[in-house]
Amino acid sequence: MKIRPLASSDIPQLFDLWQRRWGQLFPLDQALWNQQTSGDPQHYRPDLSCVLHEAGPVGFIGVKTPPPIPAWPKQDPQNAWISYLLLEPGREELGKKLLEHSLNQLEQLGYHKVAYGSDPWHFFPGLPLEDSPLERVLLEAGFEAGGVAQDFHRILGNYQVPAKAIADLEKSGFQIAPCGLEDIPRLLSFLAETFPGRWYYETVRRLQSELEPSNLLLLKSQQEVLGFCHLYPKHSRRIGPGLYWLRAFSPNPGGLGPIGVSEKVRGTGLGMALLGYGVERLKNLGAEEIVIDWTTLADFYGKLSFGAWRSYKAYWKLLGLRKAQSEKPWAESSPQTI
Ligand SMILES: CC(C)(COP(=O)(O)OP(=O)(O)OC[C@H]1O[C@@H](n2cnc3c(N)ncnc32)[C@H](O)[C@@H]1OP(=O)(O)O)[C@@H](O)C(=O)NCCC(=O)NCCS
Repeated sequence: MKIRPLASSDIPQLFDLWQRRWGQLFPLDQALWNQQTSGDPQHYRPDLSCVLHEAGPVGFIGVKTPPPIPAWPKQDPQNAWISYLLLEPGREELGKKLLEHSLNQLEQLGYHKVAYGSDPWHFFPGLPLEDSPLERVLLEAGFEAGGVAQDFHRILGNYQVPAKAIADLEKSGFQIAPCGLEDIPRLLSFLAETFPGRWYYETVRRLQSELEPSNLLLLKSQQEVLGFCHLYPKHSRRIGPGLYWLRAFSPNPGGLGPIGVSEKVRGTGLGMALLGYGVERLKNLGAEEIVIDWTTLADFYGKLSFGAWRSYKAYWKLLGLRKAQSEKPWAESSPQTI
């Protein structure tokens, strides 16, 4: 049995194994693989990602780490990620070896925490709840469990923007419209102020990779941007998280999210209006069903008849110094505050 860095010649076998283990729920294709791995060279670590060989490959592990210069303000420079741990079904005992190998490497490189999934350009927000054998592997390796997040799904049918959303938008005097080139500076200053973390980073990267910004829907006044919503119609140049798996089943899929509005206007129906118009715009662009990814807001999306689809549980493990500190009763840091 041998563990070695992943080579490009291993990728066809990785795809075969992915298909065997997760193909029904999470069918991977080359475009998504490229985007989530080499497509983010700031985070993806091909040198740390490994394959476990017996007679042939029986396990793969994907690793990401934060870049030396943070990709977004307050990015934790010591938080690494296991993007996926892919094991031959029925051979889960092999996961221990792969995890030990990668966690040792990360510890030696000085990382203090590792999360399963939730990596930048992730495949999974956490551990898919359907993969209970893998959950046991993480628990046995000392990973701690956090909360559950979900993707939500709806078939659009004869969807129409709710009357209340139309009325709330009219009352506000604001406008909901696709982002134009001229809106970009105000969009970025809104994001820098309101959502300065990963959503800022991902929006900047999307603007760099797409030809024009109209798949970002904005809530705006004459002077400023007050809300944003990412829309991913079927042929988006960037494969948004809502499209990752849906496009494998649906001839006309759409993805939506993230979505957020300024604190100044929250609670006045405008978040729902932005969502309502976002769904309508995706429908007008040809979507027949939509996935909203990685959220805990079941009640909010439930108001537009979105129902739970895939579920993921957060898992993380503390390494080295951080682990030693957390084991002391007087330690100040806890996993939740890192
Ligand atoms: C989530 C968000 C977009 C909602 O927008 P909002 O303007 O505050 O909410 P609205 O006033 O439009 O609320 C519409 C309805 O949804 C409900 N709602 C709003 N936020 C909710 C939440 N977080 N959880 C559950 N229900 C919620 C409201 O109670 C309201 O219900 P009602 O019509 O029965 O009175 C906004 O709070 C936000 O930007 N939050 C931070 C970013 C975020 O969490 N985005 C979603 C990540 S998946």
